Amino acid sequence: MKKHNYSAGPCILPQEVFEKSAQAILNFNDSGLSLLEISHRSKDFVAVMDEARALALELLGLEGKGYSALFLAGGASLEFLMVPYNLMKEGGKAAYLDTGTWAAGAIKEAKLFGETVTVASSKEQNYNHIPKGYTVPADADYFHCTSNNTIFGTQMKEFPSVDIPVVCDMSSDIFSRELDFSKFDLIYAGAQKNMGPAGTTLIVVKDEILGKNGRIIPSMLDYAKHIKAESMYNTPPVFPVYASLLTLQWLKNLGGIAAIEKINNAKAALLYGEIDRNPLFKGAAAVEDRSNMNATFLLNDEAHAATFDAMWKAAGISGLPGHRSVGGYRASMYNALPLESVQVLVDVMQALEKAI
Ligand SMILES: Cc1ncc(COP(=O)(O)O)c(C=O)c1O
Repeated sequence: MKKHNYSAGPCILPQEVFEKSAQAILNFNDSGLSLLEISHRSKDFVAVMDEARALALELLGLEGKGYSALFLAGGASLEFLMVPYNLMKEGGKAAYLDTGTWAAGAIKEAKLFGETVTVASSKEQNYNHIPKGYTVPADADYFHCTSNNTIFGTQMKEFPSVDIPVVCDMSSDIFSRELDFSKFDLIYAGAQKNMGPAGTTLIVVKDEILGKNGRIIPSMLDYAKHIKAESMYNTPPVFPVYASLLTLQWLKNLGGIAAIEKINNAKAALLYGEIDRNPLFKGAAAVEDRSNMNATFLLNDEAHAATFDAMWKAAGISGLPGHRSVGGYRASMYNALPLESVQVLVDVMQALEKAI
């Protein structure tokens, strides 16, 4: 039986993506060859890469607006250093908002390249909220933020309006909600939450911000070189790109980001409603900053943990334990998780209340 998969990433993908990508491994496009045994320069794979890049821009509403999309390897963590390498001037500075473990990881790498100003941080409160009311220095080369904090379950609802390039790590909420994506100059996201399997990272960058920082950038770390090579500077991660394309096609057929956002809102309302109603549970993150992707919550009395754990496992739920730095539970409700799976969890929470 298929589990109700709440894994934080790699995570649930649409069933049709699993089926179609399995088929492509056996016989890609009826060619008598596996997707895994053909050249990345073959006509069939170039078409995959081209469509994936175009569809990513289309879904974000950025087609024809001076942006390029890349599917690179190395994970979102590689972008932590590619961003400053490509955007921070020699002797320049960058501004970062510290909202969690991943934001802190990006700050650590940026410091290798130059002055890195942390405009605000919620670290002292174990990242349970998104700082507000901070000032971004107007002379920074760019501002970096993390739209959704996968571990702590917080999500930015507002983004500062600044006159410098805005860079955003959207690894755990890309394609989940409508935003004016043209307000961002560089977006990156590891595929393994809302887009596909682990192994590729989507980078969407406004072409005009590149090539201006005066650094000599190694080829593999140079966004401009990857754009010039149409995301084929070297052998791309062919399977993750193909499965990402299938997921993007699934999203488009569903009605795009607007349609999935409604479903995501319904899932989040159902679960947070129960967390707030049920006297056995409490949310871990500040209410106004709660993430619609990763809901973090705790039992008020840890003594019920063994019973609750046994109950959700018996209900076919998987991947619910929270990250060790928060404890408790984390329900990751990415795009492919159906509303029915959230109902199963809510039913278990209500059954626990009745049982004790
Ligand atoms: C928001 C965010 N940024 C960055 C990362 C790191 O991604 P990767 O493991 O692809 O380097 C993660 C991983 O979960 C994440 O959630």
